[in-house]
Amino acid sequence: MTAPTPQIPLIDLNDGRAIPQLGFGTYQVPPADTEKVVTAALEAGYRHFDTAQMYGNEDGVGRAIAASGVPREELWLTTKLNNSFHERSAALEATERSLEALGGRIDLYLVHWPLAMHDDVARVWEVMEEVRSDHPVDSIGVSNFTPANLARLSEAGLSTPTVNQIESNPYFVNDAVRAACADRGIAVEAWSPLAQGAVFDDPQLTALSEQVDRSVSQVVLRWVLQRGDIVFPKSSNPERMRQNLELFDFELTDEQMASISALHNGTRSGPDPDTFDWRG
Ligand SMILES: NC(=O)c1ccc[n+]([C@@H]2O[C@H](COP(=O)([O-])OP(=O)(O)OC[C@H]3O[C@@H](n4cnc5c(N)ncnc54)[C@H](OP(=O)(O)O)[C@@H]3O)[C@@H](O)[C@H]2O)c1
Repeated sequence: MTAPTPQIPLIDLNDGRAIPQLGFGTYQVPPADTEKVVTAALEAGYRHFDTAQMYGNEDGVGRAIAASGVPREELWLTTKLNNSFHERSAALEATERSLEALGGRIDLYLVHWPLAMHDDVARVWEVMEEVRSDHPVDSIGVSNFTPANLARLSEAGLSTPTVNQIESNPYFVNDAVRAACADRGIAVEAWSPLAQGAVFDDPQLTALSEQVDRSVSQVVLRWVLQRGDIVFPKSSNPERMRQNLELFDFELTDEQMASISALHNGTRSGPDPDTFDWRG
């Protein structure tokens, strides 16, 4: 049976909409398992889901949602334009496929990677603006955009993205990009908040988790929330899914927050946007 959804704060976006600050990530959830995993996440109480054309699992997300009976207006669905579809006609076709998979509406649609070594990000963003006007796509944003990529959009006189989804975790805090987003009124979504599992081997995080009597995952996710970012941890395990939702009945002190930020050592969990060149 579906658990009650905890009260999740909303983050205001610069287009007048508001996004739930905590959701569920689906990267590396295999397509064949996605319907089952997302159904379990819905049962655990998640209502905000992050998928992507690149993950190959939008169909499973859409099937789980359709079967759940949860009213669509209670859900937030984010997906992302894949790297090979930046050109206008390919982007429009890919958008149609995503809409079909996800039940006809997308809350937030992101440019997944800038690929600025090949493409002018301003041209891609013009296509996103067209998609938002002509399709049931409510908000548009970017992912993995550097400050230079964001500056290119403003130089071209285009609209400001609502969000920038970037890697951010204790080992790669990404504060320069977060500051560039804050300056422009762009909300930050923190991907790989658990450094894809690396946080669980960290003695300092283990010690802190014992001190506050919470799991390492809860401590790190709470750190992301207190920094004001949006977050959507991935887990295929229903018990861990539930644990990752229980973040609103404790607080980290300023000192504890600073001790987690001090773990930054510049180690990324994923690719560097300045060099990532995958267009599969
Ligand atoms: N825009 C982008 O370029 C981009 C890139 C990467 C990710 N993302 C988004 O960000 C989301 C989150 O990032 P991520 O999936 O890379 O990694 P993550 O959420 O940092 O970590 C996921 C890993 O942590 C484990 N885990 C989760 N909760 C746990 C808990 N309570 N206790 C112990 N282990 C736990 C999971 O294992 P189990 O499944 O076994 O629990 C999995 O191995 C993605 O799913 C995706 O939606 C976006």
